[in-house]
Amino acid sequence: MSATAGPGAGPAAQDHDHPLFARAWSSVLGRNAMGWRERDELVAGLSGRVLEVGAGDGLNFEHYADAVTEVVALEPEPHLRAKAAERGIARVAVVDGIAEELAFADASFDAVVVCLVLCSVRSQATALAEIRRVLKPGGELRFYEHVAARGGAGRAVQRGLDRSGLWPRVAAGCHLTRDTERAIRDAGLAIDQVRHFSVGLLPHVAGRARKV
Ligand SMILES: C[S@@+](CC[C@H](N)C(=O)[O-])C[C@H]1O[C@@H](n2cnc3c(N)ncnc32)[C@H](O)[C@@H]1O
Repeated sequence: MSATAGPGAGPAAQDHDHPLFARAWSSVLGRNAMGWRERDELVAGLSGRVLEVGAGDGLNFEHYADAVTEVVALEPEPHLRAKAAERGIARVAVVDGIAEELAFADASFDAVVVCLVLCSVRSQATALAEIRRVLKPGGELRFYEHVAARGGAGRAVQRGLDRSGLWPRVAAGCHLTRDTERAIRDAGLAIDQVRHFSVGLLPHVAGRARKV
């Protein structure tokens, strides 16, 4: 599959052209946002056909075990998509597209991976409904996301940054105040494992959910 065309190309995808953020992510930010071990844990034990939504420049690709036969890596941002394709990994197909409009058949993936992406999608409910649709029954969603602080000064600062519009503009549509764990449950995915932790000042959630 092509690195520059494919499902999702068009007006919706054009909103995802973030040249400065993309270059910063592929040169410095991506490697510092998340460690090697965390990326290993995120995809550990997966097998079969996997969809990685918002794959960025492909930092997770080398962490997939041999039991994963195909990775479809969906990435709407042109620079990141090109960088991901440059990795040239045979079983990884890098394609254009967005989480809210997955151009894949119902129940066509054994697993879906989202990693620091659900903060940026326009609608978590729509993206997660699409993810649920393309998962096979019993298929897994693996997630690693930063989320809203539970309260206090952290929450107030996050809310101020989101409302100012400054943070979403600087960070390519990212929002700091999302309750992603709840959104996953609300989408009808059953969370079997979840871990809450902080990276610097940012609260995170990571885990596994299943389509039942
Ligand atoms: C912070 S980066 C994380 C990249 C990668 N997942 C990683 O862990 O290195 C966020 C990614 O989500 C992508 N993204 C943003 N909105 C998206 C959407 N609606 N659908 C799919 N991907 C999206 C961005 O283009 C970017 O690659």
